[in-house]
Amino acid sequence: MAPKKHQLQMLPAAAANAWGIRTTFHSLIALLLAVLVVIALYLTQKSGELMQDRTTRKSSGDLLARCNLFSGKWVFDNKTYPLYKEQKCTFMSDQLACQKFGRKDFNYQNWRWQPYQCDLPRFNATALLEKLRNKRLMFVGDSLNRGQWVSMVCLVDSSIPPAKKSMYQNGSLATFKAIEYNATIELYWAPLLVESNSDDPVNHRVPDRIVRVQAIEKHARHWTDADILVFNSFLWWRRSQMKVLWGSFEGPDAIYKTVKMPRVYEMALKTWADWLEVHINRTKTQLFFVSMSPTHQKAAEWGGAKGENCYGETEQVFKEGYRGQATCPEMMQVVDRVLDDLKTRGLNVQMINITQLSEYRKEGHPSIYRKQWEPLTEDQISNPKTYADCIHWCLPGVPDVWNELLYAHIINL
Ligand SMILES: *[C@@H]1O[C@H](CO)[C@@H](O)[C@H](O)[C@H]1NC(C)=O
Ligand SMILES: *[C@@H]1O[C@H](CO)[C@@H](O)[C@H](O)[C@H]1NC(C)=O
Ligand SMILES: *[C@@H]1O[C@H](CO)[C@@H](O)[C@H](O)[C@H]1NC(C)=O
Ligand SMILES: *[C@@H]1O[C@H](CO)[C@@H](O)[C@H](O)[C@H]1NC(C)=O
Ligand SMILES: *[C@@H]1O[C@H](CO)[C@@H](O)[C@H](O)[C@H]1NC(C)=O
Ligand SMILES: *[C@@H]1O[C@H](CO)[C@@H](O)[C@H](O)[C@H]1NC(C)=O
Repeated sequence: MAPKKHQLQMLPAAAANAWGIRTTFHSLIALLLAVLVVIALYLTQKSGELMQDRTTRKSSGDLLARCNLFSGKWVFDNKTYPLYKEQKCTFMSDQLACQKFGRKDFNYQNWRWQPYQCDLPRFNATALLEKLRNKRLMFVGDSLNRGQWVSMVCLVDSSIPPAKKSMYQNGSLATFKAIEYNATIELYWAPLLVESNSDDPVNHRVPDRIVRVQAIEKHARHWTDADILVFNSFLWWRRSQMKVLWGSFEGPDAIYKTVKMPRVYEMALKTWADWLEVHINRTKTQLFFVSMSPTHQKAAEWGGAKGENCYGETEQVFKEGYRGQATCPEMMQVVDRVLDDLKTRGLNVQMINITQLSEYRKEGHPSIYRKQWEPLTEDQISNPKTYADCIHWCLPGVPDVWNELLYAHIINL
């Protein structure tokens, strides 16, 4: 009540000015209306152009310049999707094979991403392999990027006869090869991009994570010759602070400091960016960064019961623009800043913006339908949500669409 009273007391003093205020107010409204009309006219013209594009333009050459592929909606399409069968993919991962591990609802495999302004080019494995002839396509990052890599391998797998492909793992590097095309689709495990004590591709679950924010060469030397590089790194940074090491792990010069997020993330990405600036051949290598993959660990965020998570979900979130609280805007801004800065240095890293479109897909995670590395306890079995994986994604599923977005860019290169 207090502020109201204060306002009332102000009135008499302001009365003399009232008319003056009202006229300015009216002209302001008029001005605003004029601006709105101009904007509306502009927009109608714009969408007219887009409509024309959709009907007349066959070549997708400037599709990407004119269409925001990341703004759109999910459309149920069980005629075209899934793009491959889970059981038919030679290199399917047990962490992502939800059907194999007991999932009984399959609609999560049937969704097509429909951008508002245009259509995505239809995925054509042969066309992609032609594009990759004598080339290396390399994914670098964490387990979400690994999921996208598995998806990409599965997407081309059925187009290549068994004797004409190989899979080879050596340490952090896994290489799928389409022999006749002399094309490789590779994964390099580097969950933090820079060096850390979580770099072992198998045993990386260490309790006390330490990151060397200034050291990347050990990983990066494997990337130098790649033709297309697809990076990601978010999940492993999702904590309030990180232990940082200057100097080497074993050396007597080691200095440890704790650095807060997102500052430490920015330090690491700067190291990554500096490496790219110096080592990447701009005429040869195409660079991509996949944005943050959202998680669905708190059902309350989308109107579900408190304490629940993605376990049992069979439908997506239908609220336009839905964003979970775990999706950290500060971190995405760091990536934006680093990529903008790289652009001023003549290096173009294209963002594959999967965040918003994946936010809707609360039903797309493996939940309990994946291989468990540890035997389940009685408590877990009696309360399945406690071990549900609401971070990674079932295949076929959401990462196939990430690859369709990547495909749209690669095919247009
Ligand atoms: C990603 O796309 C969504 C939807 O178009 C947009 O709201 C968001 O700002 C984009 N994020 C980035 C980092 O470009
Ligand atoms: C696709 O979905 C519709 C509606 O749910 C269903 O009637 C139809 O049988 C499905 N088709 C296939 C091929 O699964
Ligand atoms: C896929 O691409 C190949 C090679 O460019 C082409 O010959 C073939 O017709 C395409 N298939 C479809 C279904 O468009
Ligand atoms: C096969 O591809 C690699 C790059 O991945 C290239 O260095 C090599 O020259 C290619 N081989 C032939 C025979 O073209
Ligand atoms: C495996 O990778 C290591 C380290 O990069 C390399 O020295 C070695 O030659 C590779 N082994 C094979 C068989 O390619
Ligand atoms: C960069 O790549 C292009 C195309 O592959 C090649 O012709 C050129 O020699 C490379 N430049 C350097 C400095 O390696």
